[in-house]
Amino acid sequence: MKKWWHDKVAYQIYPKSFCDSNGDGIGDLRGIISKLDYLKKLGVDIIWLSPIYCSPMVDQGYDISDYYNIDSQFGTMEDMDELLREAKARNMYILMDLVVNHCSDKHEWFKKALEDPEGEYADYFYFREGKGNKPPCNWRSYFGGSVWEKVPNTNKYYLHVFAKEQPDLNWENPKLKNEIYKMINWWLEKGLAGFRIDAIINIKKDLRFQDFPADREDGLCSIDRMLESAEGVLDMLKELKEETFEKFGAFTVGEVFNEKEGELYKFIGKDGYFSTMFDFEMEMLGKSEKGWYDNRTFTPNELRTSIFDSQIKTADVGFKANIIENHDEPRGVSNYIPKEDLNDKSKKMLAAISLMLRGIPFIYQGQELGMTNTKINSVEEFDDIATIDQYNVAIKEGCSKEEALEIVNNYSRDNARTPFQWDDIENAGFTTGTPWIKVNKNYKEINAASQVENEDSVFNFYKKLINLRKSEEFKDAVVYGTFESVLENYDNLFAFYREGSSKKLMLLANYQKEEQTIELPKLYSKVLLNNCDEVKHEKDKIILQGYQVIILVV
Ligand code: NOJ
Repeated sequence: MKKWWHDKVAYQIYPKSFCDSNGDGIGDLRGIISKLDYLKKLGVDIIWLSPIYCSPMVDQGYDISDYYNIDSQFGTMEDMDELLREAKARNMYILMDLVVNHCSDKHEWFKKALEDPEGEYADYFYFREGKGNKPPCNWRSYFGGSVWEKVPNTNKYYLHVFAKEQPDLNWENPKLKNEIYKMINWWLEKGLAGFRIDAIINIKKDLRFQDFPADREDGLCSIDRMLESAEGVLDMLKELKEETFEKFGAFTVGEVFNEKEGELYKFIGKDGYFSTMFDFEMEMLGKSEKGWYDNRTFTPNELRTSIFDSQIKTADVGFKANIIENHDEPRGVSNYIPKEDLNDKSKKMLAAISLMLRGIPFIYQGQELGMTNTKINSVEEFDDIATIDQYNVAIKEGCSKEEALEIVNNYSRDNARTPFQWDDIENAGFTTGTPWIKVNKNYKEINAASQVENEDSVFNFYKKLINLRKSEEFKDAVVYGTFESVLENYDNLFAFYREGSSKKLMLLANYQKEEQTIELPKLYSKVLLNNCDEVKHEKDKIILQGYQVIILVV
């Protein structure tokens, strides 16, 4: 059955870095409101806001101290209401980030829990006795170190799978669950279209709190071992959906990394817990459990296999949400295109591959301009908590300071968090004050003002891809059509069909700098999109230029 969101295009805003309206160096809601027309022009329908709730910002808002209020650095609830109204007036939908695996240690629940570690609120969290003078078990948190932190003046510890300022909420406690449901419904009643749902697989713990074999010298084990052994998250997700989202027909996109084999349909199938979930297959490629220092590079062929396999796995189940980057990743163009080949042509190729896949496109702010990774010269200049941990891991594993710095430059989440590049004036037009994080030096070459005007820009290429997806003629193929890969015998070639009930399209992308001659299995009638000036032919063969992408009607 067709759903209202199937043919939409979504866009992620990282509010702190998007647009600052009051000159304090921090992006805000009024800044977002002022840019809605820009997003509309691009063709965006659904906007996901990374967290704007009250937060001490230890993990940039993913540590929430009050779910019912807007942090003053982003504005007020009146601004939020205005954003909802202004979005609605433009037929746009707003999603907030739902961060309910954990809250902030400054949330009143946690403060009360610390005040009385035997009382009612301690049971909103996981407070457990230590083993002798050691924590209850040896799990490592995502940001390094033990998941356990001492509850002052007791032999108890509390659990935090992320930073110690992000205590995990106890989803086994019905009182806590009801508080969460109430809060979600409150926001949905206000007019939100739905949520992006943070770290949701983590809400179910393996309550045995047992050790697993240590996998680093710190004597700890990856938290993934716990996730593999925890049973029962599906029941929790079912109840969550029934108590909240379902009642409102809300759109939800899950951040799900570790679903078990064969369970995809439970998440995004016909009666799935979520509308969709992110496809992280390409983000996971080359990543090592040991840390960023151990990540490996990958070839275009490997990238093709990971993307295409995921398309095939999802085909009969539902729709995944396709991304090439987000606020937790380096910039897509820097991650997937070799540095020496990075230019508008290769950026457009990556855009076309991603937007022509079956699924819901989620564009991350600045992706539509081809914004790139930044360069940071000393570890002290990084803001991101994960980056600092990964730098230390690299040093511990024997990297030199220079090597460690290069590694974190490649993978840091701060790459995605530099201010949006609006124009070529000071601070890229993001703020009239001092930006909270340094602007990427390349803002004079890469910015929205010049690209919106330039027909050949990356921005306008995205716009064309979005228009194609929405066009009456080709929507059936691009949104609902089947996916079929072809020509896999060619190296560094991404080729696939998207076939709807009346139209069949083919995408051909030459993922290398050398040209490549292709024998097409079918004749084509029309070129719909091309990132080069022409399509070269040699008899009935096509010669693709380096990084050329074309979309054909076949
Ligand atoms: C995933 C979020 O995307 C990330 O930014 C955050 O650090 C963790 N979850 C913890 O909330």
